[in-house]
Amino acid sequence: MKTVTAAAWKALASEAESIRGVHLRDMFAADAQRFSSLSVRWNDWLLDYSKQRVAAACMERLHQLWHAAEVPGWIARMRAGEAINHTEKRAALHIALRHPAGKGPIMHAGRDVMPDVLRELDRMRDFAAQIHGRHWRGATGEPITDIVNIGIGGSDLGPRMATQALAAFRHPELTVHYVANLDGADLATVLAGLQPRTTLFVIASKTFTTQETMQNAASARHWLVRALGEAAVARHFVAVSTNLAEVARFGIDPANAFAFWDWVGGRYSLWSAIGLPLVLAVGFDHFRQFLAGAHAMDEHFFSAPVAENLPGLLALLEIWNTNVLGADNRALLPYSQSLALLPRYLQQLEMESNGKQVDRQGRPLDCVTAPILWGEAGTNGQHAFYQLIHQGGRLVPCEFIACRQPDFALPGHHEKLLANCFAQSEALMRGKTLAETTAELTAGGTSPEQVAALAPYRSFPGNQPSTTLLLPRLDPFNLGALLALYEHKVFVQSIVWDINPFDQWGVEYGKQLANRLLPIIEGKAPAAGLDSSTAGLISACKS
Ligand code: F6P
Repeated sequence: MKTVTAAAWKALASEAESIRGVHLRDMFAADAQRFSSLSVRWNDWLLDYSKQRVAAACMERLHQLWHAAEVPGWIARMRAGEAINHTEKRAALHIALRHPAGKGPIMHAGRDVMPDVLRELDRMRDFAAQIHGRHWRGATGEPITDIVNIGIGGSDLGPRMATQALAAFRHPELTVHYVANLDGADLATVLAGLQPRTTLFVIASKTFTTQETMQNAASARHWLVRALGEAAVARHFVAVSTNLAEVARFGIDPANAFAFWDWVGGRYSLWSAIGLPLVLAVGFDHFRQFLAGAHAMDEHFFSAPVAENLPGLLALLEIWNTNVLGADNRALLPYSQSLALLPRYLQQLEMESNGKQVDRQGRPLDCVTAPILWGEAGTNGQHAFYQLIHQGGRLVPCEFIACRQPDFALPGHHEKLLANCFAQSEALMRGKTLAETTAELTAGGTSPEQVAALAPYRSFPGNQPSTTLLLPRLDPFNLGALLALYEHKVFVQSIVWDINPFDQWGVEYGKQLANRLLPIIEGKAPAAGLDSSTAGLISACKS
């Protein structure tokens, strides 16, 4: 940890002592104003963190940590285009991708990046207009009915999640599919339902070298060429990449390639041309609202004081749970089927960014960083793993997300959905004491012997911390703001932990190892130097 934050950490540890043994239900009982003092509003959003195990004094200490870690200074460095991704000598300027035209320059290496950003946005708009207007035709002259995005990680998770999240805004005549896995089952099952004549592939890869994407792209190309011939590639393949030379080598017309830049990290790239399948799925006007929502959150993050700063509060509360209370995980529980893929998207954003072992000077960290993020849409999760959260004996900080209005308004559904969401956070906070369970069973006519036998099973410890984020509705603007909220939350945490959130050497290591084993599995290289398990697995496959 930074020396400058040492005093703030010490103060937090002593706050933890002062609330040790105090149950959340007692905190609520002791303070009728708890909800109003521990919740904040932004636009028509509400962030309720009153069910976190914090007192007002803890929050003040957390705010001191924000200042001690110099968060505002780091925000300024990011906005100025400094190479804050120091291990790759790159800036992290994803905020430029949603910066509105005419609102001033965003500088990188002495140059305003906005003209490039706006040019690519215009190209995306024009391309979507051609597809939606049925002016872009396949090789046989038929309009495109199906888009297949081939990409992985940041080139897949964001547009895939957002396409599902904005299903209510979907273009009626176009279906967008996503293929990521190297397992041929992914591509084969998508292609099984499609016609080459009416299918367009978007090959999305920042580097255009990623093994999974290149293999899936080659197989998709083979599928198309077998049906329509080599000349059809130009009408059925477009690409999104920073590596336009590789795109051309693959055989995609440079006129059909959409660019982005090395100052956009893969997991921060949804706002760039990587969002092209989303533009095709929901239309450019909705994509613009999505960018506007993210920009509104950027402005909030840059200007709001820490006590009202949504990304800052989420970051600090998780630091409290992780580094002070000792939680090793966080459950993300959106009460929205449309946000069902959000946990998966945030797993990459949070764990690939902040799952780090050394600080910005390369020294081993003396604290843990990103907790394990997991989760599932409510109410499905309630019938899978909530049992463990209620009675499994682990500290599981929960993050509930709900919308006041439904995006698909079927009568009778939404009130029940909200009732379940709020009931869970209430139950996790309160728990149910042995005395309460005993009284309840007795009042229901259970015999004293049975009450004594059953009550331990039917009691709940509670005191499980949670935050609830209540949005007005799931629309492009609010989704954009929600995702930008998490990006900035991750950034704040990285500043406090003093780590670089923009590299991913662990993932690169995995790619390197797979490339070493491939020739051995293909029988082109000897299995020399392998451990006995790896060698045994390979030989079992070959036999
Ligand atoms: O998962 C590792 C990673 O490097 C991500 O950061 C990136 O989003 C993904 O691979 C895909 O990379 P590319 O877009 O270059 O194919």
